[in-house]
Amino acid sequence: MKIMHIVGNRPQFIKLAPISRKLKSYQIEEVIIHTGQHYDENMSTIFFEELDIPLPKVNLNAGSGTHAQVTANVISRLEEVIMNERPDGVLIYGDTNSTLAAAIVVSKLNIPLFHIEAGPRTHDKFNPEEKNRIVADHLSNYLFVPDKISVNNLENEGISPERIVFSGDVMYDQFLYTAAQSKDNFPENYPDNFILMTWHRQENTCSRERMKQMLSFIEQINYKIVFPIHPRTRKLLVEYHLWQRAMDNTKLMITAPVGYKEMTSLLSRCKMLISDSGGASKEASFVGKKCFFPLKLDVWPELIEAGLINIVDIEDAGSVQYNIEAMREVLNSDQELPKPDFFGNGNAAEIIVNTIKKVLSA
Ligand code: UD1
Ligand code: UDP
Repeated sequence: MKIMHIVGNRPQFIKLAPISRKLKSYQIEEVIIHTGQHYDENMSTIFFEELDIPLPKVNLNAGSGTHAQVTANVISRLEEVIMNERPDGVLIYGDTNSTLAAAIVVSKLNIPLFHIEAGPRTHDKFNPEEKNRIVADHLSNYLFVPDKISVNNLENEGISPERIVFSGDVMYDQFLYTAAQSKDNFPENYPDNFILMTWHRQENTCSRERMKQMLSFIEQINYKIVFPIHPRTRKLLVEYHLWQRAMDNTKLMITAPVGYKEMTSLLSRCKMLISDSGGASKEASFVGKKCFFPLKLDVWPELIEAGLINIVDIEDAGSVQYNIEAMREVLNSDQELPKPDFFGNGNAAEIIVNTIKKVLSA
């Protein structure tokens, strides 16, 4: 049995790691195809090294560009690679342009397609990830779902229950695995008390006005903020002539993107998270930390409901003020938040690989 993974973005390397470990333990052959959507050392290579993921056999070098350019580059270069490799099944991850492109190519070749982290819906059709996820889900033969709400989303869209498997979240598997490994290994260059922040979404970087609003929001927080900055955010702050303004904020400690081990340490040590990242906003809940999510998007509704995610509408002064006050409360309290169990038991990869084995051996 030969399994192919198609990945291209930072969060996908992390999602792939526990699946690859499980395949290895069953001695199942795997081949990794990297689309090349992310390519900086600290957005790609570092994850393969740190998480012990086999090197990609092929890199499609799709690179950066508009949505259509990146998607088209992957589509046009992937087909031949799949024809040569002849996998028995293909795994795709998450909701990026690489996921969308891979779903289209694999499904047209009629090779069994498995979607990891299927089902979340923001119900916002302008959100680029929503479009990618809907197409990938509907084209996939089997959908591995991280949480119960996402199961309902898929059923409501008419996807037959036989195709849906509630596996829990592979990011939870990996988080537990790495946190256990890197315990007590906190880098010395960070302050003792800090807020962790990451943001990169298209909605928060699409215009100078929006980035100014983000900076104004951050400037109202009187607390040290560690900010491993995504290359997109850095590039656009520079392009919009806002980089100096960010540097002038003495509370802000801007660093290059960090590796996953460092990120899990930062999440474990921070007072709270400010992030528009789908992955990080969920990971904060794994360590009982609150996430302030600076985008009006229905991300992880169960975490919003449980009070672990606060949505900040940064275009609304009232919402900003309310959340600045809520942050103060979190910073002044030593109380740990309950860690919810919405995302399975940390054995998602096992459920996924066992299902794939069964399906492909039938
Ligand atoms: C993409 C995904 C997003 C996901 C994110 C994870 C889509 C539509 N978006 O967003 O869902 O949350 O990955 O991080 O697929 N860049 C570099 N070096 C890199 C990668 C990117 O400099 O290694 C810069 C380039 O200027 C590029 C920009 O970042 O144009 C955006 O990269 P892109 O992959 O298009 O989107 P992300 O914002 O990373
Ligand atoms: N992450 C990381 N280093 C960083 C920022 C994020 O390792 O500097 C990890 C984070 O812990 C999570 C994943 O990258 O596991 C989230 O990726 P990202 O925010 O790029 O994408 P999203 O989840 O929004 O699609």
